[in-house]
Amino acid sequence: MSSIQDVKLIELPRFNDPRGNLSFVEQNNHIPFEIKRTYWIYDVPGGEERGGHVFKQNQEFIVALSGAFDVIVDDGKQKKKFTLNRSYYGLYVPAGLWREMENFSTNSLALELGSRHYDVSDYVRDYDEFLKLKRDGEI
Ligand code: TYD
Repeated sequence: MSSIQDVKLIELPRFNDPRGNLSFVEQNNHIPFEIKRTYWIYDVPGGEERGGHVFKQNQEFIVALSGAFDVIVDDGKQKKKFTLNRSYYGLYVPAGLWREMENFSTNSLALELGSRHYDVSDYVRDYDEFLKLKRDGEI
């Protein structure tokens, strides 16, 4: 049963170089899962929100490759907001936490690494259903 305490802001390696900086992430090393899927969110119009849902099994690592946005995570009892605004930090979000993304800056680019292939049945998009699953100890 995941909680807010399991969400981790992870600092990635950084090679600062006058030619331009470089960072990277390796599965089962900097992040505690094998990467099955990579997707990204871009061209978000001002004021829009994304990702109001929970994954029952998919774990994620979210990086603001460019710009900034907020990720709000919620375990049914507590909520916490993380602002991502550096490309050498990422947020590890375990399965079973409600999450929302908002406050995207112009031209922001959100990279998301996932532990599972896309599976529509892994999503819960109804907040009350999420609370019930949490209460019943199912996620
Ligand atoms: P969705 O996960 O609902 O976006 P949000 O981050 O706002 O919750 O995804 C939006 C649409 O994209 C949805 O119709 C399914 C599709 N999609 C895929 O086909 N594959 C994927 O890996 C993802 C993340 C989304």
